[in-house]
Amino acid sequence: MNKNISIIKGDGIGIEVMDAALLILDKMELNLKYNFLEAGKECCKKNGTPIPEETIKKSKKSDAILFGAVTTVEDSPSAIITLRKELKLYANIRPIKSLPNTNSIYNDLNFTIIRENSEGLYSGLETETENGAEAKRIITRSASERISDFAFKYAKNNFFNKVTAVHKANVLKKTDGIFKESFYKIAKNYKDIKTEDYYVDATAMYLITKPKIFEVIVTSNLFGDILSDESAGLVGGLGLAPSANIGENNGLFEPVHGSAPDISGKQIANPTAMILSTVMMLNYINKDKEAKKLENALLKTLKEKKQVTPDLGGTSKTLDMAKEIASHIE
Ligand code: NAI
Ligand code: MG
Repeated sequence: MNKNISIIKGDGIGIEVMDAALLILDKMELNLKYNFLEAGKECCKKNGTPIPEETIKKSKKSDAILFGAVTTVEDSPSAIITLRKELKLYANIRPIKSLPNTNSIYNDLNFTIIRENSEGLYSGLETETENGAEAKRIITRSASERISDFAFKYAKNNFFNKVTAVHKANVLKKTDGIFKESFYKIAKNYKDIKTEDYYVDATAMYLITKPKIFEVIVTSNLFGDILSDESAGLVGGLGLAPSANIGENNGLFEPVHGSAPDISGKQIANPTAMILSTVMMLNYINKDKEAKKLENALLKTLKEKKQVTPDLGGTSKTLDMAKEIASHIE
């Protein structure tokens, strides 16, 4: 059966990198059925909301969603956070893997951050007080156990031997106390996988000084957001970092980066993060062989360094790099 894929290009370079990914997918002739859906700032100007009901409804019905990036609209709900919530995409997978010929600090890293996506400080529960405002940090046993279980399964399926829980239980005694306790409760079901836990501040340093100690990191929403951008910096920057948001019924795949207004319109955005997110999507819809082909074509393009974008030291436009990748598909 043809898989039903929702395509949300969004704003700025979200559109540019998605067009690059679609150019390559078209060449691969995968029999995917696309729905093109709107979200983001331009969508808000047109429809009065950055995330229309129709986008949510059709995304829910699709097998997978490819998401470019959106520009945040002040005083409106976040399109991506709304989608994660509405589609119950509780697990955010952010692989940190060195690629050839990139301006990376390390060239032999391979670990993954699993970020809890449904609660924590991103629950959106902020209220004003007389002298300022307060935000609620929600941590439940059920979500903490679910994300820990996801991390251990991910480790097993991807041949990692260790899962590290990252928290701040010395200060956030109740909330992160529960996160840590839930992690070790689930760990008992995975006796063949090593476990450890670190405080988030120490982790931020270890990511710079000895990142090779990490295999799979599991952490709460805000910590995962920050540590994954930090880690992306270790392997060449946001233009190279993909992610997947996984729920019970479907998955949404997006680069970690945003709409990059500083470079949008110039056709110089690196499409790699979007393409690696597409590789993750192809694996998710059980097109493993095709995923491998796409990844290999990208790796070949990076190794040859003939058609790469300026952030990688080249002079190519986004779509020219995409055409080069498409030409390497076997
Ligand atoms: P950003 O990720 O858009 O850009 C940060 C820096 O990385 C910029 O210097 C940009 O030029 C560079 N960069 C990002 N992607 C690149 C690529 N593919 N190739 C080459 N360079 C790249 O983050 P920023 O500037 O903080 O946010 C811009 C807008 O995007 C904001 O409105 C923000 O709220 C939104 N945003 C949206 C996200 C999403 O849709 N999931 C995620 C992060 C930010
Ligand atoms: Mg982020």
